[in-house]
Amino acid sequence: MTVSAALPLPAWLVRDMDLGGVNTFGLAATSRFGATVTSDAELIAAHAFSRDNALPVHILGGGSNVVLSPRFDGLTLRIAGKGKTIVSRSAETTVVQAAAGEDWHELVVWTLDHGLPGLENLALIPGTVGASPVQNIGAYGVELADRFDSLTAFDTQTLTWHDFNAADCRFAYRQSVFKAQPGRYVVTAVRFALPSVWQPVLGYAGLDTLPDTASAGAIFDRVVALRQSKLPDPRAIGNVGSFFHNPVVPPSVRHALMAEHPVAPAYGQPDGSFKLSAGWLIEQCGLKGAREGQIGVSDRHALVLVNHGGGTRAEVEALAARITEAVFERFGVSLTAEPVFY
Ligand code: EPU
Repeated sequence: MTVSAALPLPAWLVRDMDLGGVNTFGLAATSRFGATVTSDAELIAAHAFSRDNALPVHILGGGSNVVLSPRFDGLTLRIAGKGKTIVSRSAETTVVQAAAGEDWHELVVWTLDHGLPGLENLALIPGTVGASPVQNIGAYGVELADRFDSLTAFDTQTLTWHDFNAADCRFAYRQSVFKAQPGRYVVTAVRFALPSVWQPVLGYAGLDTLPDTASAGAIFDRVVALRQSKLPDPRAIGNVGSFFHNPVVPPSVRHALMAEHPVAPAYGQPDGSFKLSAGWLIEQCGLKGAREGQIGVSDRHALVLVNHGGGTRAEVEALAARITEAVFERFGVSLTAEPVFY
């Protein structure tokens, strides 16, 4: 079956879905078909529809880590299932489950309101719970993988649900099996293991001035204040957070960089490599505030590209290419984009 423009569509499906308001970059975008999916039945029906009509599928959570094309000739599914619950308690952990469509920051607040610390360093990250394991979100010394129990995902090849433990997810820095195999799985619920005996994580710059006795609430407040002072608010100016990964380089590259720039930030990794700060490298190239049309490098944080209003995907690509080339020419370091290009 191929879908005809005249045929009536199932009630949950819309034609020419406007995605302009549901991507935090604020890029103008439409999808030939779209649906807001809140149940397992709708997820199956949507995938059956995509198969019957040979339509590619894009999955959208909060739209906070995607660069959209002006027109997608396929089916866009906004994953919007809700629900948060405590599923088990043991001497070691409390396991909390949240549906994929829950707002990430609201989950952090909810856990703290229930006396369950562990996610406070990850406060104010834009996006949904379902997107959080896809790129293994991380901030201020904690990664999602550190607090992960398991998740449930829909396999779009077999149209069945599967549970994934941490090893199955193959988490790495801003990486997972879900990011590596785009389109294969749709995360529908995530479970977090929050430690019964909680230790504050205070090593990151900005948290290191808090006392060792700092409460989870105090860390939460500090992280919120740090993010608000450093990162442009996507509700005020379109952006997708960090636009590039921090490059991980061998000791020889770090050594050459430090010989010329002794103050360049570089963080040792367990395997002996070093993580450099892409924001610092970009700023050194004089690109803070640089623009291609309406897309610019934030003048607050060089790792963030912002939409000054009416920016286009082509401008995003042009500016990203200019930055990548400048950093490579100056430092010999390759930057890779962090958001997903749809
Ligand atoms: N820096 C500059 N110039 C800039 C920006 C940063 O010199 O314009 C320097 C800072 O002075 C600091 C270093 O770069 O020495 C690191 O900066 P920051 O602490 O702001 O962190 P980041 O490495 O730029 C990463 C994550 C953020 C996360 C913060 C805090 C990535 C790609 N980004 O940014 O995540 O919030 O650490 O943990 O790993 C995101 O993924 O969207 C995101 C915002």
